[in-house]
Amino acid sequence: MTYDTIVRGGTVVAADSVKKADVAIKGEKIAAVGQKLSRAKRDGTTIIDAAGKYVIPGGVDAHVHLELPFCGTISSDDWSTGTRAAARGGVTTVIDFAIPFGDQTLEDAFNAWAAKAKSKACVDYSFHVAITNWQRQGPELPKLIEMGCPSFKQFMIYESEGWQSDDRALFLGLELSRKCGAMVMVHAESSRVLDELIARHHTTELMEKYGARLHPMTRPNFIEAEAIQRAVMWAQATGGCLYIVHMSTGEGADIVRAAQARGARVYAETCPQYLVLDDSVFARPDGNLYASCPQVKKKKDSRRLWQGLKRGEVCVISTDTCTFTREQKAMWNGDWTRIPMGLPGLETSLPIVYTRGVLAKKLSMRQFVARCCTNPAKIMGLYPRKGGITKGADADLVIIDPKKRLKVDHATLETNADWSPYQGWSLAGFAEHTFCRGRRIVENYKFAGENGYGRFVPRGKPGRL
Ligand code: URP
Ligand code: ZN
Ligand code: ZN
Repeated sequence: MTYDTIVRGGTVVAADSVKKADVAIKGEKIAAVGQKLSRAKRDGTTIIDAAGKYVIPGGVDAHVHLELPFCGTISSDDWSTGTRAAARGGVTTVIDFAIPFGDQTLEDAFNAWAAKAKSKACVDYSFHVAITNWQRQGPELPKLIEMGCPSFKQFMIYESEGWQSDDRALFLGLELSRKCGAMVMVHAESSRVLDELIARHHTTELMEKYGARLHPMTRPNFIEAEAIQRAVMWAQATGGCLYIVHMSTGEGADIVRAAQARGARVYAETCPQYLVLDDSVFARPDGNLYASCPQVKKKKDSRRLWQGLKRGEVCVISTDTCTFTREQKAMWNGDWTRIPMGLPGLETSLPIVYTRGVLAKKLSMRQFVARCCTNPAKIMGLYPRKGGITKGADADLVIIDPKKRLKVDHATLETNADWSPYQGWSLAGFAEHTFCRGRRIVENYKFAGENGYGRFVPRGKPGRL
């Protein structure tokens, strides 16, 4: 057997093993994992020396929003800049949310998202679909599942965007997920109480006094916790499969852990911003930049989420990338309810989790790979094609120098953000090389891929961990 590329002598990390091995690539696939594969070197075989480096599966980011029309503007990372950022951050598959607008069908939304991605994506991609009107869109779901979208999003907030699902829609969605072997992904925040708290604080006087701090002041932890509790209740009552997106509170982790102990099929993801930032950022002069939904919480929440990741009740790290520039964030003009909500994330996610998780001994290397690569691939129906390093899998590989640190500077990042929540942070864990389906798309920390290389990946039924 001849190989195109051999990654030689690295420490190959999987969710369940760490071993020194060579990884051989032929075409788009991993052809072999083993010892002394470089003996099979021929003219034309590229050898990458990975001695002293980690070789991990490409990251799978199950939660991104590229070019999303949201909060009166469009998120500023498009399918080119967003996926260039992904590649540099070691993420080789992204899953975005196709959201129907107006009276679009789910298939219309899928087609609109596919059209945006096709000529620009630099890494592989897939879609969840969002249910904005259960009555019209519910009957369409079996078809979308057939098309490779076995997970659908239901928002418990965002009435003004026209996206909100009520309890009835949530209950029906979970029932259908059980019948069809699909999964409901829920943005859990308690809309009516949130509306009340926002209305109570929405005065000129309070806005002058507290500025962006009103964002966390109007979203206490019970806003998320109550909604998670309710969604879990519907999941248990229906036997449906529930995935809590962007979980930000310690209370959420407690509820999910208890539900899992009762045997409910409930998964939860969190994001780097909830692990390494806290709500003191809103007191900064540029505190408005940090608004996301849900917002970052307190240090004790971060501690509980790290614990959940370590133990496994929080099983996935995604980014919820939804980038806005300083100019877009300035739309708030002193009113926190007008801040476009979301943060950049794809380029820094793995480095943050590696530096603040693995190097800080909060996670092992295997847990890092499980939460960022293998678990999202399994739960999202992409495994074993994605998320692992085994013969026959897509050759999505990331080589990390365990000691090499880079200073985060938005000016040198690929993301189309003119700021970074992590500006000036010294992070290890950036991809020295990234391979996506056998092609090197990051070389010596520089993007080396191209627009349109990324391919749509249809997904199978959600797997179990
Ligand atoms: O602030 C965020 N997360 N923006 C994107 C939309 C969402 O709720 O995920
Ligand atoms: Zn959300
Ligand atoms: Zn999101």
